[in-house]
Amino acid sequence: MRVDLDDVQALHDLDSMGMLGAAWNLPEQCEQAWSLAQDLPLPQVRDWRQILVTGLGGSAIGGDLLRVFAGDKLGIPVLVNRDYTLPWFVDRNTLVFAVSYSGNTEETLNAYDAARERGATIVAITTGGQLGRRAAADGVPVVRVPRGIAPRSATGYLFIPMVALLERLGMFFGMRAEVEGLVAHLRELRRRYGSETPVRNNPAKQLALNLQNRLPVIWGVAGTTEVVAQRWKGQFNENAKAPAYWNVFPELNHNEVVGFGQPEEILDRIWLVLLQDEADHPRVKLRMKITRDMVKKAAGITEVQSSGPNGLARVYSLIYLGDYASMYLAALAGIDPGPVRVIDYLKNELAKHK
Ligand code: PA5
Repeated sequence: MRVDLDDVQALHDLDSMGMLGAAWNLPEQCEQAWSLAQDLPLPQVRDWRQILVTGLGGSAIGGDLLRVFAGDKLGIPVLVNRDYTLPWFVDRNTLVFAVSYSGNTEETLNAYDAARERGATIVAITTGGQLGRRAAADGVPVVRVPRGIAPRSATGYLFIPMVALLERLGMFFGMRAEVEGLVAHLRELRRRYGSETPVRNNPAKQLALNLQNRLPVIWGVAGTTEVVAQRWKGQFNENAKAPAYWNVFPELNHNEVVGFGQPEEILDRIWLVLLQDEADHPRVKLRMKITRDMVKKAAGITEVQSSGPNGLARVYSLIYLGDYASMYLAALAGIDPGPVRVIDYLKNELAKHK
């Protein structure tokens, strides 16, 4: 049954896994996540030439955050791997973060084994599962994160320990202050986006109403909001069980934008979201302005500007808005945002064919 977005009780009744509560607690999760990596034994080998984060879905997005946010601060490249196998160049000079909330995702387990065979330095981030067991048996350090929420609600737990550990390793600095700024900003934002704030004052609820019965197409920017665009798409898929698509400037100016000619019945269903950050390349800012006026056949466009005291807070400000909007979009269709039965079904079917 469709839910009125101002009916707070109904929103929570529909949410069997407490996704709204987990979103509300994200600032506290981020705080706690910082301390999770503080006692971890530091790896002895440190002559890494690259960092690779391997994981899938909600467990991979922290890797993208690290790649985009910390990429140019670390002095070595960060790559994200969403596969069973690893790129050929992963070797003993690679630091691998194997991330799986459940610890039972077969692609990640396979990649973990491959990283062991290549002699890479590994750190596992998980609630336990097979990854936790394998890592413990292999003497691989494990960041144990709390159970009980959906993997995609655990971005703080799955991302921030990587940053904290890299700071402890002396690979970059000032992260503690950056995380503190993030936490303070998320505390402000949750009062705007949270379930208790009515539609008239709540940009996340307003966005969900615009997206209702529409196809969200989210456009971010390479190097800044690209990770957010991908995250929003995943959240609309997993929380609202709805299709959504994403792309990035400037690449989309060379293909996707041409596809706004026809058919009108489909274009009429598309709602574009343009994600903007102060660090976007000036020429890309101009491209966005010009492009906005070229896609008039879409049903509508929402432009969203990041906010916050630092780069990390700005990226998360957008992620947070998308997280909330996707849950409200689910509610508008009477859908429980938590369970992802399609993913569970796939995992169970695959498990029958070991
Ligand atoms: O959000 C989800 O539930 C999924 O995207 C999972 O994160 C994905 O299936 C991988 O599972 P896990 O995070 O447990 O490794």
